[in-house]
Amino acid sequence: MALERIQKILAKAGIASRREAERMVIEGRVLVNGKVVEALGFKADPSKDHIKVDGKRLTPFEPKVMLLLNKPRGYLSTVKDPKGRPTVLDLLKNVKWRIYPVGRLDFDAEGLLLLTNDGDLAHLLSHPRFSIPKTYLVKVAGIPEEKRLTRLKRGVMLEDGQAKAVSCSLIREREKNSWIRVVVTEGRNHLVKRMFSAIGATVLKLKRIEYGPIQLGDLPFGQFRYLTPEEAEKLKQISSASGVRSSEEKTKRFEFRTKNSRPAVGWRTPNQRFLK
Ligand code: URA
Repeated sequence: MALERIQKILAKAGIASRREAERMVIEGRVLVNGKVVEALGFKADPSKDHIKVDGKRLTPFEPKVMLLLNKPRGYLSTVKDPKGRPTVLDLLKNVKWRIYPVGRLDFDAEGLLLLTNDGDLAHLLSHPRFSIPKTYLVKVAGIPEEKRLTRLKRGVMLEDGQAKAVSCSLIREREKNSWIRVVVTEGRNHLVKRMFSAIGATVLKLKRIEYGPIQLGDLPFGQFRYLTPEEAEKLKQISSASGVRSSEEKTKRFEFRTKNSRPAVGWRTPNQRFLK
């Protein structure tokens, strides 16, 4: 973020009007990196500098964003790879927020991947307490008999415990392979592949098409879009119904706002609309 006049930073953060903010500076109530700001022309970088007003820290303003990527095979669901392999961030070059994936999809898996800069929400959505249903289309070698798919619904024993599919149905049969639609609620590593391996089926392709209320739809491979306000609201409702406390709730972080200002936390959609 660029350097900006301190009164502008305070006004943008919703602390006070620019005029009031100027008065705060003059009254010596504003500190930047531990030093009282003495001139109205003083500039700071809200993303780097430690700014305090009346003894309270101004948290850097970054709108919370959530986007959906149709991940192609051959990309890691991480921010960086020490071996230099392509990561999903390579597909999101024009996104200026520091986002990271919510959970993972294997290197060779494809489909719906959510990314956000909202650490609390990412943590809440990945929390085991949620049991968010995730729907996958799985291409397997051969055509598994019905009784083997029933085993997936009853539960199979894996090395890290039992795993069950919420639902599982054969949706397409071909001569040498078939497609199965499976819904699971856990996020353990390689879960779907390991479940199919437990019933003796080899996974040839794996594509996630739904994550809770969010659907991949016809978004082309490698493309992304911001969640709609309705989708973002649904995800937030799931997380607020969880009973799991976010770090923000735990620390009861001070949130700067005035009577008429927006809170310094919100959701951003491409048209810059904020949701409550
Ligand atoms: N299950 C898997 O095996 N791999 C994924 O990427 C997601 C679920």
